[in-house]
Amino acid sequence: MPSSPHKTCYIRTFGCQMNEHDSGKMRLLLAPLGYTFTDEPEAADLIIFNTCTIREKAYHKAISEIGRSRFFKCHHKNQIIGVCGCVAQQDGRALSERFGHIDLVFGPDQISELPRLIQEQMKPATALDLINTLEDYSFINEVPKKVESGAAFVTVTKGCNCSCSYCIVPSVRGREVCRSDDDVISEVSSLVKAGVKEVTLLGQNVTAYRYNDETLASLVRRLSDETEILRIRFTSPNPKDVTDELITEYANNPKLCPHIHLPAQSGSDTMLKKMRRGYTRERYLEIVRALRAARPKISITSDFIAGFCGEGDKEFEETVDLLNEVCFDSIFAFKYSPRPGTRAAKEFDDDITKDIKEARLGRILTLQRKITRAKNESLVGQTGEILVTGPDRKGSGGFMGRLPDNRIVNFAGNASMLGAILRVQLTRALANSMEGKVLDE
Ligand code: SAH
Ligand code: F3S
Repeated sequence: MPSSPHKTCYIRTFGCQMNEHDSGKMRLLLAPLGYTFTDEPEAADLIIFNTCTIREKAYHKAISEIGRSRFFKCHHKNQIIGVCGCVAQQDGRALSERFGHIDLVFGPDQISELPRLIQEQMKPATALDLINTLEDYSFINEVPKKVESGAAFVTVTKGCNCSCSYCIVPSVRGREVCRSDDDVISEVSSLVKAGVKEVTLLGQNVTAYRYNDETLASLVRRLSDETEILRIRFTSPNPKDVTDELITEYANNPKLCPHIHLPAQSGSDTMLKKMRRGYTRERYLEIVRALRAARPKISITSDFIAGFCGEGDKEFEETVDLLNEVCFDSIFAFKYSPRPGTRAAKEFDDDITKDIKEARLGRILTLQRKITRAKNESLVGQTGEILVTGPDRKGSGGFMGRLPDNRIVNFAGNASMLGAILRVQLTRALANSMEGKVLDE
């Protein structure tokens, strides 16, 4: 298929930052084929659903949008519709059998094959045979020429070798593969040239990063020393793999941002064991204390699952207690959702009723809202430096930026500030963010 400058592509992304990042890489791979990007699926020549299946709700959302897309084809006969990401990996051939209007199905590990699948107009069955026989995973090295927001993600590991009993990620994202340190350093250097000031190193278990003798901590150190990047973050670590070396890096490296997203999942040892998380409540608390000793103002955020199999009132109260003890800066919390093929779905009863799951989730979120607000309020009057990443989420004409501790600051600004690091004073605490005013323009 010759490339023409008039083709449009609509990419719908569900789920995590990894999927967002994968969609960005797909845009970079499709642009040389002549695609430009649109927000209007009906008229697009190519539609890609980059899907998520972490919880049942995410799965159903993706499936229902894929189902509805069959109507677009009534108006646009030559439209190509592709499904990728974790639902594609989970359902594979069953997906193209269920939805006759789908032209392409490929998993998260086969994104580098996308241009070929499109150019050769590969049918789903052939594409699946092809992608299932690919042996080596290759990271995609393309980077954008200009990054307005000044912030970018860089994948350092893909897949996950952990065996958290509730989690579908290892089966849809495959075994862990780490990217070479040289590739990471070269990508960050190119991003710096494109205007990037802050990178987030990405991996499903980013703390598992290992390439020859390089660890996540030594990679962070090398990036600080060998590139002009100003801020470094990473997500998500697994507490069981947080090392003293990494904690020391927080103490010694000012480029490593004072924030860690450290998913705890539960405050109960019984639940942690059933979840196969590989740490105890006490070990988790020990890491928190060590991080706070290394970087007193570090912000710590987390993930929790409410109503995991067999979670009694006692176990749940231990989670509530952990929230009170740690005083997280913010959290994400989810109702437990059994996922096909996981150890928990096979071995344990999903015995906590929907009502109890909902009540527990509500309690965690209400408690955390209070803690977050109190923490935000204690910051009012202080000054800090934000990286201006884009228009604010309210769509009120204002802009937003991020403090090194990852808090969002909304402020009155203009487009010329995009990608700049500005000094602000924090003027007001909101539920999940702050308001501020720029001190130097
Ligand atoms: N380490 C990964 C975890 C991805 S899943 C990463 O952050 O990249 C994100 C969160 O979803 C998990 O931390 C967990 O809290 C939640 N989660 C995963 N599987 C779940 C399930 N089956 N039901 C409910 N929540 C789940
Ligand atoms: Fe999932 Fe546990 Fe890996 S939550 S992504 S199996 S670290």
